[in-house]
Amino acid sequence: MTIVTVLGTRPEIIKMAPLLPRLDALGDHIIVHSGQHYSAEMDAVFFEELELRSPDRPLGVGSREPAEQVAMIAQGVERVIIESSPDWVVVHGDTNTTLGGALAAAKHRARGVRLAHVEAGARSFNEDQPEELNRVLVDRMAHLLFAPTEDDAANLKAEGIPVDRVLVTGNTVAESCLRMATIVDGHVPDGLAAGHYAIATIHRQETVNDPARLATTWEALVAVSECVNVIVPLHPRTRKMLAAAGLPLSRAGLTVSEPVGYRKMVALLKHARFVLTDSGGVQEEAAILQVPALVLRGETEHRRYVDAGLHRVVGTDFDRIVAESTFLLDDDRLAERKRCRIELDSGVAERIASALTSVGVSPR
Ligand code: UD1
Ligand code: UDP
Repeated sequence: MTIVTVLGTRPEIIKMAPLLPRLDALGDHIIVHSGQHYSAEMDAVFFEELELRSPDRPLGVGSREPAEQVAMIAQGVERVIIESSPDWVVVHGDTNTTLGGALAAAKHRARGVRLAHVEAGARSFNEDQPEELNRVLVDRMAHLLFAPTEDDAANLKAEGIPVDRVLVTGNTVAESCLRMATIVDGHVPDGLAAGHYAIATIHRQETVNDPARLATTWEALVAVSECVNVIVPLHPRTRKMLAAAGLPLSRAGLTVSEPVGYRKMVALLKHARFVLTDSGGVQEEAAILQVPALVLRGETEHRRYVDAGLHRVVGTDFDRIVAESTFLLDDDRLAERKRCRIELDSGVAERIASALTSVGVSPR
């Protein structure tokens, strides 16, 4: 069996980490790195810390306008497909890398190439988000869809995707996160005291490319940091947009840094009092580590953590973010929120790998 895996952004590298060695064991496995993320702290650090082998085909596409980026990734993956005639092309999630890889695979269906989508079926139902467009298109093209939850599978069914193409697997991020949480154990980075700081990440286009939303969110983080130290590892997109908006980085109790490696990120998350984030992956990890999170978006694909009572969707409104954070500064309320139990996924990568070897896929 020949498998081509396409990845290229921070969350893809982290979430595909448990699966890559298992795909190596299935036959010829070619890892294509799009180069969508390329700064060492957005890319190389994760290969090193998660002990991943180097990609076979770095495309070096870099930062570009979205259609150009997708087209260049599709072109690069197409070359690999023509050379290797894979049985499967495997993509993950909802980025431009995911869409580029999926398009190339779909265009070579006649060669017997089949497309598998890991983390299929997630929906925010907000069509203005580039990620939502990517997910819907990729799910439409895929032959085999690995849905993290029953809710995700139900979204696919509602869109008319045949149920025999969908397998509910759990989410691979649980394996990456729990493995790293065991390695970091009780270590709290930078001399911080467990439970006495919050951690915040923002990077989504809808949050940071909108000057009004960026300003209310950032000012809310500054206000929260007057009561509790807020650690902010800054995504490069956010750094750029804050500079463009003239919003200073050095304020009150904010501790702003470059993006951190995964070891430090998991250690910071594990011991945080609470998390403020617009990131899908960070929200999932907070849930896995049983840490309350405030979702800085209008909606989330991960409703199960909100329904369980551990997370709240608070949007980008200044007053709401400050009020919800203040609530979590009360020890009893925090303890009550932390009592909400989340079921942990396990054996996810193994389930996916064995499905690729055993599932018969009906012709479309
Ligand atoms: C992308 C994904 C988003 C995902 C995020 C994970 C799409 C449409 N968006 O958004 O779904 O949540 O990755 O982090 O695919 N930059 C660097 N160094 C890098 C990479 C980017 O400096 O290694 C800067 C560049 O100025 C670039 C900007 O960050 O223009 C944005 O990068 P890009 O990959 O376009 O989008 P993300 O915001 O990272
Ligand atoms: N992450 C990290 N260092 C950071 C910020 C995030 O290691 O400074 C990890 C985080 O733990 C999660 C992933 O990056 O596993 C999430 O990526 P991101 O927020 O960029 O994208 P999203 O999940 O929203 O697509």
